[in-house]
Amino acid sequence: MLKEMVKTLKKQSVQEVHVPYEAANKLKNALSNLRFREGNEWLNVREWLGSVVKHSLNDEVINSIQGFKSDDDQCALIIRGLPVDGNLCATPYNGYVPPSKVPLASAIHIGIYQLSQIEPVSYQNENKGFLFRYVVPALNALNEKSSHGSTFTFGHHVDNPDLPLACEPLTKRSGCPEFLSLMALRSDLKVRSNFILLDNLIAQLSRGVVNELCQPNFRINRPDSFGQSRSSRLPILVIGEDGVMLCRYDKENTTPLTESAAAALVMLEAQLQNESLKQHVVYQPGDVLIIKNQRLLHSREGFKSRSDGADRWLARMFGMSTLERIVPAFPEFQHIGKD
Ligand SMILES: [Fe+2]
Repeated sequence: MLKEMVKTLKKQSVQEVHVPYEAANKLKNALSNLRFREGNEWLNVREWLGSVVKHSLNDEVINSIQGFKSDDDQCALIIRGLPVDGNLCATPYNGYVPPSKVPLASAIHIGIYQLSQIEPVSYQNENKGFLFRYVVPALNALNEKSSHGSTFTFGHHVDNPDLPLACEPLTKRSGCPEFLSLMALRSDLKVRSNFILLDNLIAQLSRGVVNELCQPNFRINRPDSFGQSRSSRLPILVIGEDGVMLCRYDKENTTPLTESAAAALVMLEAQLQNESLKQHVVYQPGDVLIIKNQRLLHSREGFKSRSDGADRWLARMFGMSTLERIVPAFPEFQHIGKD
């Protein structure tokens, strides 16, 4: 099996596309009068939002968005230059504003998911089940290693890693998010987000190490963003459909439980320091990054919040290829998963 897996390591890539001025303007005008409040109201009109995005953008950007989900080689897509709301409120240091405060960005974000046929999802115990999480240097979490932290580098990780990966069976809990997107509302040009593509990382490891990482000999704790603590004994790497590798490594929440698991983790972490594997993104307002959460590792460097109302502010959303990977927490909201 491992031999087959090595044969099928993909040539993963990152695509970057730019939205022309005219397309951005058309999108802004088409979405200028939105009146919705909570996330689920936005989801009710997502078909319309998808068609507005489709009819406003140019072919190159549309094709990249539509092709992203099913193209195994594509692991990250960066769309630059989308319009954002002109009269933004101050960066929400408590981590929350209703999406109606940023209607244009929220509408475009959902419209892009619709166009790419990715289902927007959230989790009952993470971010209070809200669809959008605002990645900000929250004043009550400056020292946290989470999307609300800032001071410390937030090490390489996959989001919500203790939930079942795309090739693992579901029982009572929803699956780990397959997609994760970030839309920049305010940027800080000094702050880099890094990522390492999984297959490039695995190619640097011996078969013995990869085999060890595929054993369920690691304790994976729930990340800080969940309002509950839990740990599970799981493998870090899983061989999915057609030999595609999936990953649940999370620097802050992974503990090896055997000597050989610890040795393999040392080898993995040594490669995470390998500068030649790292790619980075610096966001500007209006940039959207969509990644395949289980196919790469992402991290954010530490920074100092100015606390002046104009700090870095990103909107995050999770996605699934199908709602079958979600165990609904409430019958009326099929996109909010039990976790
Ligand atoms: Fe993350």
